[in-house]
Amino acid sequence: MIEAEKLTKYYDKVAAIEDVSFTVDKGEIVGFLGPNGAGKTTTMRILTGFLPPSSGTARVAGHDILTDSLQVRRRIGYLPEAVPLYTDMKVAAYLEFVAEVKGVERRERRRSIGQIMEKCRIVDVQRVLIGSLSRGYRQRVGIAQALLKDPEVLILDEPTVGLDPQQIIEIRQLIKELSGQSTIILSTHILPEVSMVCQRVIIINDGHIIAVDTPENLTARLQSSAKLLLTVDGPVGQVEEALTRLPGVLRIEPKDEGKAGDAAVSFIVESERSRDLRREVSRLIVDKGWGLLELRPADMTLEEIFIRLVTEEHQEVRG
Ligand SMILES: Nc1ncnc2c1ncn2[C@@H]1O[C@H](COP(=O)(O)OP(=O)(O)OP(=O)(O)O)[C@@H](O)[C@H]1O
Ligand SMILES: [Mg+2]
Repeated sequence: MIEAEKLTKYYDKVAAIEDVSFTVDKGEIVGFLGPNGAGKTTTMRILTGFLPPSSGTARVAGHDILTDSLQVRRRIGYLPEAVPLYTDMKVAAYLEFVAEVKGVERRERRRSIGQIMEKCRIVDVQRVLIGSLSRGYRQRVGIAQALLKDPEVLILDEPTVGLDPQQIIEIRQLIKELSGQSTIILSTHILPEVSMVCQRVIIINDGHIIAVDTPENLTARLQSSAKLLLTVDGPVGQVEEALTRLPGVLRIEPKDEGKAGDAAVSFIVESERSRDLRREVSRLIVDKGWGLLELRPADMTLEEIFIRLVTEEHQEVRG
């Protein structure tokens, strides 16, 4: 459904993205994951036909973004990074306007707008001026306008940014519900978001794609060790010593999360990837008479994933 071929974009003499190639199948939800300035927005703007690449090209729903950009735009719903909403329009009137521009048939409009407002949970604010909506609600209106005319492809640039936790859950759910009907690319900084919503992840760093895989494979590939987060009520030194001596433990890293006056101490306990030491660790703590307050797998943070990917890449280049 989407094929990007060696997309490169220069701003002045600086490459924002270089040789970016990937494909997205019909009905797939793919996440673009990368730090600030990685090139996510640039790539998305090129795919929507709003920004011409310096070189390379892409096909979206069978149409070339360069030679057939009108056809591409007709098939895409786009939530830009900064949603350009008309602040002096009311929500429903704005959606009516976008529907007209997008060429939704007049007799279809009312029904379609009603459905979309319900999906995005903005029915209650339909007569409110966009300018007086909270940021999260504006983001919802942005998503609503992207959904008009049932686009084959949805491109969502950080759809959950600025939303409160409840709204984040709802928007993720909404995106999941849309899968199957639309092909979706979304960008995010949040690793768990990708695992929750996307079937595949494209990791982009410094204008280059550094990994494409399923969230599960990626985490497994990168996690050379298994990490547990452990919080114990007990004497720090003794706890640390006992843990170090536990067979299978590779490394202990104290984590300073306890409040002042709190007897609880937290550690990251690292073991080989194939070993789950939760039973051994909990038995040890209980046998010693300490309090086991928390024990759970510690997920890799986005920072750790990047560091590891970038190091892997450098090693490949060198060796
Ligand atoms: N209009 C522009 N003029 C000059 N440089 C730009 C322009 N837009 C983006 N860039 C540069 O291109 C690079 C990629 O930017 P881009 O906005 O695509 O990153 P991003 O991955 O979307 O980042 P963020 O997570 O902060 O949104 C950055 O170095 C940025 O400074
Ligand atoms: Mg961006």
